[in-house]
Amino acid sequence: MTTDILITGAAGFIGKAVLTELSSKDQIDMDGAPQTIGNILALDLSTDALLDLADHDPRIRLISGSLADKDILHQIAAAQPKVIVHLAAVVSSAAEADFRLGVDVNVNATIGLIDVARQFNAAPLFVFSSSVAVFSCADNDTIDEDTLPRPMSSYGTQKLIGELMVRDASRKGMIRGRTLRFPTISVRPGKPNAAASSFASGIIREPLAGRQAVLPVGKDLRLHLASPERACSNTLTAIALPQDALHAETTITLPGVSVTVAEMLEALQKIGGDDAVGRVIEQHDTKVAQIVRSWPGEIRTPRAEQMGFKADESIEQIIELHASLMPERSKS
Ligand SMILES: NC(=O)c1ccc[n+]([C@@H]2O[C@H](COP(=O)([O-])OP(=O)(O)OC[C@H]3O[C@@H](n4cnc5c(N)ncnc54)[C@H](O)[C@@H]3O)[C@@H](O)[C@H]2O)c1
Repeated sequence: MTTDILITGAAGFIGKAVLTELSSKDQIDMDGAPQTIGNILALDLSTDALLDLADHDPRIRLISGSLADKDILHQIAAAQPKVIVHLAAVVSSAAEADFRLGVDVNVNATIGLIDVARQFNAAPLFVFSSSVAVFSCADNDTIDEDTLPRPMSSYGTQKLIGELMVRDASRKGMIRGRTLRFPTISVRPGKPNAAASSFASGIIREPLAGRQAVLPVGKDLRLHLASPERACSNTLTAIALPQDALHAETTITLPGVSVTVAEMLEALQKIGGDDAVGRVIEQHDTKVAQIVRSWPGEIRTPRAEQMGFKADESIEQIIELHASLMPERSKS
C-alpha cells in the first residue's frame, strides 16, 4: 500500500523544499507509522519551476491552476490523497495590499480544500501552514505558544481563520488536521521583497553575496527565526505525528531562535568578516519598525518541543548553513 500526498503551493519557497525532500525518500512516517510514498501531487498556479524535479521522479504529478478553481478541486476529489500539505497562500505584504485576493486564497480556498477533503472516503491528514503573524504584542515582547492571538494584519487574521477551520473540521473527524505557525524564515534565498520581514534575510544574504543591504530597524529588535531547512523538517515532523499526540489542539506554534539584530550582525561578522558587516546600511524606516515591534521577540514553545518540533541551534548555524549552500561558496 502506498500513500499519495498533495502539496499545495508546491512551487513556492517552502513547497519546493518539501517536495524535494519527499522526492528523495521512499518512505516517511505518517500519522505515527512508516508509509511508502505513492504519487506526489504538486499543485501551484504555475508548476514550470517543478518540471526538472518531475522529470526525475515519476511519482510527481504536476497540477497547474488555482485552488479557487472548481476543476482543480474536482481533480483533488478524484485523487483522494491521504496526506495534504496546504502551503498555498497570498503572503503578508500581498495580503495587506490586496484584501480581496488575501480573503479569496487564504480563507476561501482553504475552506474549499477542507470541504473537498471532508468528502474523501477516509479523513486525510491535513497540514496547514499558518504564521506567528497571528500574534501581536507590546513592544517586541516575549510571549507563550498559547498566548491569545490578536493579529494586526489581514494576513494574520486570514491565517487565524484557517487555523480555526482546521481545528473544527478535525474535531468533527472530517480531516486529521495539524496547523503549523511558522516563525519568520531566515535566510531566505532569492531577491529582497516588499515584506516587512524582508530585511531579516536581506541583512545576511545580500552582504554574503557581496551586495549592500538596508537595515530599516534598530539593532535591539528581536526576532523569532527559523531556517528554511528547519521549516521543512518540522513539516515532516507534523506529517509523522499521530493524531492523538495533539490532544484535540490542532495548532502548533513552532520553536525558533530568538535573536537580536545586533546578534545577527555579530554572527555575520564571524562568518563573512568586517567587509560583509560593512555592507549593511542603517536606514531607519518608521513604518517597518512600527510593524516589526508588534511582533513577538521570543516565543516559549514547550508543548511543540515536547511533540518533537525543533528550533535551529543558533543564528551562527543558520548563517553557516546558508553560506554552505551559496553556489559561489559551495564551489570553493
Ligand atoms: N516563508 C516564511 O517566512 C513563512 C512564515 C510564516 C508562514 N509561512 C506560510 O508558509 C506557506 C508557504 O510559504 P512560502 O514562503 O513558501 O510562500 P511562497 O509565496 O513562496 O509560496 C506560496 C505559493 O502558493 C501559490 N499560490 C498562491 N495562490 C494560489 C492559488 N490560488 N492556488 C494555488 N497556489 C497558489 C503561489 O504561487 C506560491 O508558489 C504559506 O502558507 C505561508 O503563509 C511562510
